[in-house]
Amino acid sequence: MRILFLGDVVGRSGRDAVVTHLPGLRERLGAELVVVNGENASHGFGLSPDMARAFLAAGADVITLGNHAWDRREIIPYLEEQPRVIRALNFPPGTPGRGAVEVAVGDGRRALVMQVMGRLFMDPLDDPFRTVQSELAKHRLGVTIQAAILDIHAEATSEKQAMAHSFDGMLSLVVGTHTHVPTADHRILPGGTAFQTDAGMCGDYDSVIGMQKGGAALRFWRKMPGERLAPAEGEATLCGLFVETEDSTGLARRVSALRMGGGLEAALPA
Ligand SMILES: [Fe+2]
Ligand SMILES: [Fe+2]
Repeated sequence: MRILFLGDVVGRSGRDAVVTHLPGLRERLGAELVVVNGENASHGFGLSPDMARAFLAAGADVITLGNHAWDRREIIPYLEEQPRVIRALNFPPGTPGRGAVEVAVGDGRRALVMQVMGRLFMDPLDDPFRTVQSELAKHRLGVTIQAAILDIHAEATSEKQAMAHSFDGMLSLVVGTHTHVPTADHRILPGGTAFQTDAGMCGDYDSVIGMQKGGAALRFWRKMPGERLAPAEGEATLCGLFVETEDSTGLARRVSALRMGGGLEAALPA
């Protein structure tokens, strides 16, 4: 299966880049499953149902969220009607929406996409490790599902790497989100799982993690509440990765970084 994952879409600049480039990118890469993290699409904070619809129409199959899941409250009823938009699976029982979704990919193949949030330097949720373990117990990679993707939305690189190694050989892809900076460590782990500590954001990198740099820097200079931060508005770099997996095992045979447009050096899968 050919899988494209795009990191956190930040603000209008990120949204425009996704809506403009995703249809062509999907075509050019022959991507059969596209997953986009949309937690910062709405002015940096949350995702509105209209934006979710726009990403799905542009070629996203599944949209993941994160700690900003609830910033746009209109998403709450939408999550009940649209299973392809998921929040973290390790929210407490009774939380609206779902944290995992199985989607049909064509030729009878199926893919599982899930997200968990880390607990280090975050508002801790239920144990993400045991949460992934129990979800995986419901499926058989290579048999009932041909691919399984985990978005680990976390601050700490250590927690993301610990997650990836814990499930190496049991997932097609473990990819980090949330820090908005792409790490240069995309690779296939010894057991066959593709991994990148953080996919980076789809947003304007002439910024502080996607937000206008002046206001964001001032928060560090003066320990006073300033104006509400707004997303930077320059051209976005689309950041993510492209993975090819073997349907019979669900494991990765190739992983490449993707960076396109904006201020970062381009990287396009061959
Ligand atoms: Fe984010
Ligand atoms: Fe986040």
